[in-house]
Amino acid sequence: MNKYKVGIIGGTGMVGQRFVTLMENHPWFDLTVIAASPRSAGQTYEQAVAGRWAMTTPIPEQAKSLIVMNATEDVEKIAAAVDFVFCAVDMKKDEIRALEETYAKAECPVVSNNSAHRWTDDVPMVVPEINPEHINVIAAQRKRLGTKRGFIAVKSNCSLQSYVPALHPLKKYGLESALVCTYQAISGAGKTFERWPEMVDNCIPYIGGEEEKSEQEPLKLWGEIADGKIVKAAGPAITAQCFRVACQDGHMAAVFMKFKDGRKPSIEQIKADWANFSGRAQELELPSAPKQFLHYFEEDNRPQTNLDRNTENGMAVCLGRLREDSQYDYKFVGLSHNTLRGAAGGAVLLAELLCAEGYIDRK
Ligand SMILES: NC(=O)c1ccc[n+]([C@@H]2O[C@H](COP(=O)([O-])OP(=O)(O)OC[C@H]3O[C@@H](n4cnc5c(N)ncnc54)[C@H](OP(=O)(O)O)[C@@H]3O)[C@@H](O)[C@H]2O)c1
Repeated sequence: MNKYKVGIIGGTGMVGQRFVTLMENHPWFDLTVIAASPRSAGQTYEQAVAGRWAMTTPIPEQAKSLIVMNATEDVEKIAAAVDFVFCAVDMKKDEIRALEETYAKAECPVVSNNSAHRWTDDVPMVVPEINPEHINVIAAQRKRLGTKRGFIAVKSNCSLQSYVPALHPLKKYGLESALVCTYQAISGAGKTFERWPEMVDNCIPYIGGEEEKSEQEPLKLWGEIADGKIVKAAGPAITAQCFRVACQDGHMAAVFMKFKDGRKPSIEQIKADWANFSGRAQELELPSAPKQFLHYFEEDNRPQTNLDRNTENGMAVCLGRLREDSQYDYKFVGLSHNTLRGAAGGAVLLAELLCAEGYIDRK
C-alpha cells in the first residue's frame, strides 16, 4: 500500500512522543515530518528529545534522524511535504487556534489533540465508535475556510474516555444523569514522576478546566449537525470532580447513573449492551480499533490501572463493579489509557476513520 505521509506538530512533547511510537510500523501511515518550537527546530529528533524521552520503548529508528522543523515558520513546507498532520502543542489557546487554521488553509488536514477548537461549531470532535457521522460537518468547515483539502478535526478530552463509552449504549433507556469522579494519571499533564516529584505519594483534588470539559464535551459528542454546525445535546446531564492521582498512565472514573422513570434496565441488560457495543471503527476494521471496545471484568478488584490500562494496545475501555446504588440507579468503575485511547491513540483512530471515509487523500 502507498502510505499516507504524516507530520507531527509538537512531536517532541509527551503526546507527540506517543504519536511517534504509534507511527512505527503503522500499516497506513508513514512519519516523514516532525515539528516543534524554535527550541527544538534544526536538531535531529534524537537530539531534541535527549533527556526527556518518556516512553517505555526506545525512540523508533526512522524518527531519530529526522530534522525537527519549526512548527510556526515552516507551515508551507510542511503542508507541501505531507498528506496530513497530527497536532499536540503546548501554546496559548488563541495561538493554537490560529496555528491549526493556518495549516488547514495551507490545504493540510489537521487531526488535533488540543482543546482549542473543540467548541468551534463546524469542527467535528469525534470518538469513532460514538459519533463518526459528525465528520460530515467538514464540508461546511471547508466552505468557511475556503479550502479543498484542508480542515481541522479534533478528539475529545482524555477524561471522557473512561465513562462516555460506557454511558453511550445506555442512552436508549432514557439515561437522565451521571455523577462522575475521575482519578487521572500524571502523564495527562505531560509529566513523569521525575519531572513532578510533588506527585509521589500524593493526590491533588483539582485539575484546571477539567471538570467543565468532563461535563460539557459529552454533550457535543452526543449532539447533531444542523445548518453546517454541531448543536450540542441537552442531556444526559453530567456532574464531575477530577483528581490528579499518583499513577503514571491511566485515567479511572467512578460513575453513578440515573435513568428516567420506569426505564431502568437490568444489570444483565447493561452488561449485554456493553458486550455487544461496537461502532464504525470496528465495522471498517480500522487498524487501531480494539476488537472489543468495552471489556467488563467480573472480579471485584478490577479494572486496575497497572494491570488493565494496556488492554487491546491501550485502545479498549475497561469496566467493572456494576451494581445497584441507594441514591442513583447504578454505579460502576471505568478505566482508559489517557495517552493512548485518551490522546494520541484516539487521534490516530480518528485519522484512520477520516482516511477510510475519504476525507483525507494521498496527494
Ligand atoms: N498529555 C495528555 O495526556 C494529553 C491528553 C489530551 C490532550 N493533551 C493536549 O495535547 C497538547 C500537548 O500536550 P503534551 O502533554 O504533549 O505537552 P508537552 O509535553 O508540554 O509538549 C508540548 C509540545 O508543544 C511544543 N511547543 C511548545 N511551544 C511551542 C511553540 N511556541 N511553537 C511550536 N511548538 C511548541 C513543544 O516543543 P518543544 O519540545 O520544542 O518545546 C512540544 O513538542 C496540549 O494541548 C494538551 O492539552 C494532552
